[in-house]
Amino acid sequence: MASYLETAVEIAREASALLLEFAGRHVGFELKAKHDLVTAADRASENLIVQRLRERHPSHSIVAEEGGEHAGSSDFRWYVDPLDGTTNFAHGYPCFCVSIALAQRDALLAAAVYNPFYNELFTAARGEGATFNGKKIHVSKNATLSTSLLCTGFPVRNRKDTPNLQYYGDFTQHSHGVRRDGSAALDLASVAAGRFDGFWEFGLAKWDVAAGILLIEEAGGQVSDFAGSPYHLGGPVILATNGLIHEEMRTMALEISRRSPPPSRS
Ligand code: IPD
Ligand code: CA
Ligand code: CA
Repeated sequence: MASYLETAVEIAREASALLLEFAGRHVGFELKAKHDLVTAADRASENLIVQRLRERHPSHSIVAEEGGEHAGSSDFRWYVDPLDGTTNFAHGYPCFCVSIALAQRDALLAAAVYNPFYNELFTAARGEGATFNGKKIHVSKNATLSTSLLCTGFPVRNRKDTPNLQYYGDFTQHSHGVRRDGSAALDLASVAAGRFDGFWEFGLAKWDVAAGILLIEEAGGQVSDFAGSPYHLGGPVILATNGLIHEEMRTMALEISRRSPPPSRS
């Protein structure tokens, strides 16, 4: 396990250094769809990560956002977001990261999320806890929604179909506030580190959340869908909290869902 985590960390650091080089050169962006940006940095980071993973673990599969898929022969699979927070990156807002996770069948084993601008590294290994820059982290101890700081995000595609503005409004009125930072991997890492008490979002992809989920679980938090069932990678909605406010958030989310039904898949 330790060697898998080391691999994830080393590669996340190398890819992040590449991102910083691109950031210094102010690269332009292209649109994959309306509002869905991609830059040369996304592609260069993914190429590097996929190449390194294939060198080290040729039998492992890889699922990566910009198409760097690799079907391996073993039941190990890497989930790679080479640049989470592309819109932020393209605008020079320093909230972006590399996110890398390893799973064996359905079990997440190792995770690394690295924000190179602030030199913030979050890691987790199954059964061994989660860390922030080498120190053990734990979710917050805040037990009530009304005193919580929350976070959410909005999809880059099909924005007009998202029901999330309704949830954003209601949770804003019943908490200390809802942040919208634009990097789901860092949002989840921030719940693991106790900076946020809870997070939810519709329509996230496997590579957005795989690393963040293990961080939260190893930091003592809870992850589910709004019905309270286990969240499966790529599921329509994720709720991730410190555990203490999970039921309160879930109850409110279900109430809002009754008024404004979420999509079955966005
Ligand atoms: C996006 C970010 C954002 C979330 C979007 C994602 P990208 O990923 O994680 O926070 O709200 O749904 O698509 O495109 O920057 O890798
Ligand atoms: Ca992403
Ligand atoms: Ca991305």
